[in-house]
Amino acid sequence: MSTAQAGFSTRQIHAGSIVDAESRARVTPIYQTSGYVFDSFDEGAERFAGTSPLRAYSRTDNPTNVVAAKRIADLEGGVDGVLVGSGQAAIAMTVFSLASAGDHLLTTQLLYEGTREMLRGSLLRQGVTSTALDEHATEADWLAAVRPNTKAIYTESIPNPVGGVTDLDLLARVAKRAGVPLVVDNTVATPYLCRPFEFGADIIIHSTSKWLAGHGSVIGGAVIDGGSFDWAANAERFPQFTAPGPHGRPSAVAKCGRAAYAGLLRSSTIIEYGPTMPPTSSFLLLHGIETLSLRMQRHISNAHAVADALSRHPAVARVHHADLAGSPYRALADRFTPLGAGSIVTIELHGGRAAARTFLDSLDLVTQMTHIGDVRTLAIHMASTIHGKLTDQEREAVGISDSLVRISVGLEDVSDIIADLTQALAKTEGLA
Ligand SMILES: Cc1ncc(COP(=O)(O)O)c(C=O)c1O
Repeated sequence: MSTAQAGFSTRQIHAGSIVDAESRARVTPIYQTSGYVFDSFDEGAERFAGTSPLRAYSRTDNPTNVVAAKRIADLEGGVDGVLVGSGQAAIAMTVFSLASAGDHLLTTQLLYEGTREMLRGSLLRQGVTSTALDEHATEADWLAAVRPNTKAIYTESIPNPVGGVTDLDLLARVAKRAGVPLVVDNTVATPYLCRPFEFGADIIIHSTSKWLAGHGSVIGGAVIDGGSFDWAANAERFPQFTAPGPHGRPSAVAKCGRAAYAGLLRSSTIIEYGPTMPPTSSFLLLHGIETLSLRMQRHISNAHAVADALSRHPAVARVHHADLAGSPYRALADRFTPLGAGSIVTIELHGGRAAARTFLDSLDLVTQMTHIGDVRTLAIHMASTIHGKLTDQEREAVGISDSLVRISVGLEDVSDIIADLTQALAKTEGLA
């Protein structure tokens, strides 16, 4: 069935699905195979040349993975997508396909710490530099920061972990004027809450380990091509998209047209680096995606109730969630995430690190764990874990205070979540 005109909940169940010709299985099977039979000598060569529509090898082309990639691409409004083994691999593959030694990236300052570590670690060692601009930077500041060797503007729609919402309009304008793609990590928002292609993004990244899968049992990543960036018009900056391959093989633009970005990822970056998602993982991911809209509605209503209860609690010094009435991100949330600004609620406690320790060690229903977007409510102290390698000044610059606790609000009965958080907060009294 064509789902082109269907609503979000229909597409999250049906988009991209296939029915196996022989078994007629309704649920997309796990195609647990490394490779695919070549019917002849010549046909094998055609598959390697990419001139046959049939598959060659599961590193880049496994049917279960393709269904999940197509489904996410459809929900995002993209033209094509690829899956990889983790969100981190999705970020790495995206950067590797755009930038090499001597190149530069422009990023927002508030990013998932794993991304910042990659920018300051491996990427820097490989000669890719980056400049981060904070949320007060104006369009003129961004344009002034663009260099001839800048290859992308990189951001997160809802930055992890301190909430907020990014001004995608502003970044899309800058990226357009600079002639570089706007790359948006849309993990925390999911396509249910925000579709960055509608605001001018060119490439979307997901850690599918989080809300897309939702059940906390599988790691994965996705890169989605919006089909909007004109690689041919910017061929000088991005020759890899228009240069013909060996033996006269067509360039990514000549072969894939609007989907040239996904084409290059598949035919070069991913096949060369090999961060493949196992098909068992994409099978589990598909099962999560089927209920995304329903889960996100509940995640949002639970997060709103938790944020509201915690902002009235005397042991809590500050609550970060862009949907709160006093949030400085409220107007951006209304524009970019009108259905809700995600289900991470970050709190700062009276009583510093000691209060955070007592609070976390007193939780019962809520799990102390590093992860977000799970059906279970999870909490973690950021300064001693994910941001543990940063200096005090570096932590302060990205808003990670000593008492900051990130709560990924799950799908339990919200009264039970609030009761557990409240009893743990009561134990911190006297520590302020
Ligand atoms: C916003 C964001 N992007 C990417 C990642 C990396 O994803 P993964 O853990 O699947 O490698 C994370 C992980 O927490 C994340 O929060």
